[in-house]
Amino acid sequence: MLIDRLEQTRRLTFEEYLQLLTGFTPQLAEYAADKALRVREAVYQRDVYVRGLIEVSNYCKNDCLYCGIRRSNKSCDRYRLSKEDILFCCKEGYELGMRTFVLQGGEDPYFTDQVLVDIVSTIRKEYPDCAITLSLGERSRDSYEALFAAGANRYLLRHETADEKHYGVLHPKEMSFSNRMKCLKELKEIGFQTGCGLMVGSPGQTMETLAEDLFFIQEFQPQMCGVGPFIPHRDTPFRDSPAGSGELTCYLLSLVRLMHPTVLLPATTALGTLDKDGREKGLRAGANVVMPNLSPMAVRKKYELYNDKISTGEESAQSVKAIRKRIHDCGFDMVIARGDILEA
Ligand code: 5AD
Repeated sequence: MLIDRLEQTRRLTFEEYLQLLTGFTPQLAEYAADKALRVREAVYQRDVYVRGLIEVSNYCKNDCLYCGIRRSNKSCDRYRLSKEDILFCCKEGYELGMRTFVLQGGEDPYFTDQVLVDIVSTIRKEYPDCAITLSLGERSRDSYEALFAAGANRYLLRHETADEKHYGVLHPKEMSFSNRMKCLKELKEIGFQTGCGLMVGSPGQTMETLAEDLFFIQEFQPQMCGVGPFIPHRDTPFRDSPAGSGELTCYLLSLVRLMHPTVLLPATTALGTLDKDGREKGLRAGANVVMPNLSPMAVRKKYELYNDKISTGEESAQSVKAIRKRIHDCGFDMVIARGDILEA
C-alpha cells in the first residue's frame, strides 16, 4: 500500500501523491493518521510545542485575493504595534511559558530593516533562551540576512501553492511565483529554519495542484510546514468560495508527517476555526505545534485574514490555559521549550 511505502521510503512520485489524494476516504485518512501519530511519537514523543503569535501589523502592500488584510480591503481597520507593544507581548508570553515568539504581519513598508533589526536584536538580548520566528512576507536577500544576523532563527513563508498557474489565480499580477520560491530558497541558504505551507481548498486548487504541493514539500524539506483550510473572508473576491475541508487538511498533515518525520507541523488556528475540535484533530493526525495568540486584545479582531477567527475575544493567559487543557485532554503535553526541529 502507498501509505506504507511513504512511511518506509519517505518519497513518492508526483503520480503516487496524486493517487493518494484521489483515493482519499475517511478510512484511508484514519490509517494515515495512526501511522503519522506513531512516526511523530518516535521523534517528539507526546510533546506539543507552543509558539506565541504576535500579529505586528495588518497593513499590507499586497493584494492576495484570499486574504482579509489585502490592500484593497477598505473596511479593514489598520493598525501596527510599536516596539514597546511587541516587547510587552513577549514578556506576557514568556511568563506563560512560551519560548518562541512569532512576529507575523502583512507586508508593511513601515517595518524597514532598520526598524525590524532594532526590534529583533532587543528581543534577542532580553530573551536569550527564546527562538524568534518571523513571518513578514517577501523581502530581499540582504534584508533576510540582516534579520538573521540580528538574532532571528526561523522564518515562515507559505508557498501557498506549488503550481505556478494556480499561484496566478490566488495572487495579483504583480506578485510572482518565482520570487516566492526565490525567497524560500534564500531563507534556507541563510540558515533560517524555514517554513513553507499552503491553504487546503483555496479557489482553483485541484488534486493535481495538491500533489504538486506534496512533491514540493518533499523536495524542499522545510523545517516547518503550515497546512490549514482556506476560509473565505467577506471583503475579498473569494467571499463566496466554499471553505476547505478539515478532513482533507488532517489527511495532508498526516502525509506531510509521513514524508518528513521531524517537520514542525502546526495544528493551525484556521483548522480550529473551521471545526471547534479542529486543532485536536490536527494533533491526532500528526501535528506537533500550536500557536496561541499573544497580540494585544485591542487589535485581535483586526488581524482578520478570514472570517470568524477564534480566540479574538479572550486574554492571552486565558487562551493559553484553555489550549493547555485541551492538549492535555487529548493525551499530549504542552512543553516549555524552544522546540527546534529535532534530528531524525
Ligand atoms: N483562509 C485561510 N488562510 C488564509 N491565509 C490568508 N488568508 C487566508 C484565508 N482566507 C493564510 C495564508 C498566509 C497565512 C499567514 O495565512 O496562507 O500565508
